[in-house]
Amino acid sequence: MTPEPSARPPEDRGPESGAPEPSAAASAAPAASTVQAGAPVGQAVGEPARALPLPLQYRRFTRLNRVQHVVMIVSFMTLALTGLTLKFSYTGWARVLSRMFGGFESAGYVHRVGAILLIITFATHITDLVLRKSRDYGSWAKLIFGPDTMMFTRRDLSEFVGSILWFLGKAPRPRYGRWTYWEKFDYFAVFWGMMVIGSTGLVLWFPVLFTTVFPGWMINIATIIHSDEALLAVGFIFTVHFFNTHLRPEKFPMDLVIFTGQMPIREFREDKPGEFEDLVRTGRLESRLVEAYPPIVIRTIRAFAWTALTVGTLIVLWIIYAMVFAYR
Ligand code: HEM
Repeated sequence: MTPEPSARPPEDRGPESGAPEPSAAASAAPAASTVQAGAPVGQAVGEPARALPLPLQYRRFTRLNRVQHVVMIVSFMTLALTGLTLKFSYTGWARVLSRMFGGFESAGYVHRVGAILLIITFATHITDLVLRKSRDYGSWAKLIFGPDTMMFTRRDLSEFVGSILWFLGKAPRPRYGRWTYWEKFDYFAVFWGMMVIGSTGLVLWFPVLFTTVFPGWMINIATIIHSDEALLAVGFIFTVHFFNTHLRPEKFPMDLVIFTGQMPIREFREDKPGEFEDLVRTGRLESRLVEAYPPIVIRTIRAFAWTALTVGTLIVLWIIYAMVFAYR
């Protein structure tokens, strides 16, 4: 996990909690050295030096969100690589990859480990939703239909139309709020995919158990659904999701916000002006400000993100190659 910069507010409660949090600037940690001439205003020569505070940024995601996303990336990549190795076992690429996993049989075992990780991540998300419902919202109705809802609303429809007009140069960029329509779409794509891939995967994993209740041909159906939904999920995540998040002009070549959890205030104001104005109007912006991470942390995160982007893109190219030249 990435180290947290000093002077960060507690992240156990999500940004939606509305809990009062100390200002990052106010609680900057003291450094060990002694102040030299030319020290920042307010520090006398000879006094213990305080580290120059890093610029403040807007905190968009909680620590739990970030950890979940990283675990999801690792498990999903593992599942995709091992699953596709089994699916395209007759291609040269699959034979090379299977050796990496210790053979086709152990690729199946690694697949199951990835599945356990993904199911745990999904379970922690559902648990988090239940806890936040009680703690921050009071009722499911307020969580599901509140202003920061993940559900599609009329505003999403008008922002979708507004975006098309903006692409055509006929209207200004919509003033997006906390979640844009494409972020909601990505979220539900994963939610739906989890249900379909997870349930059929469990049927493949425990065929004897499931066939005590269901007829045997269910196993064949489950294999087809699991296998095809896997192609859909991989294709969607590594093209549409990558494009929406990293490759759109405002973010190109990469948006690190899901890994750092935070973004520069100027970028936040330009990207989500609706949310920015709402936080300023209700006086909640300051409680969401935290210090930026030092460059070394950002470089480490960037290396991980580039690896994930590259592996994902290679998987898509492999699928296209296998479907066009080798599909059986
Ligand atoms: C909770 C999630 C999952 C579970 C429980 C699960 C379980 C399984 C099991 C038990 C198999 C059979 C493996 C074997 O024969 O040794 C399998 C095959 C496969 N899985 Fe998964 N899986 C899950 C998620 C995924 C995901 C996310 C992907 C792709 C992104 C995926 C892609 C595949 C593919 C392509 C196959 C091969 C199907 C075929 O033979 O045509 N799986 N899965």
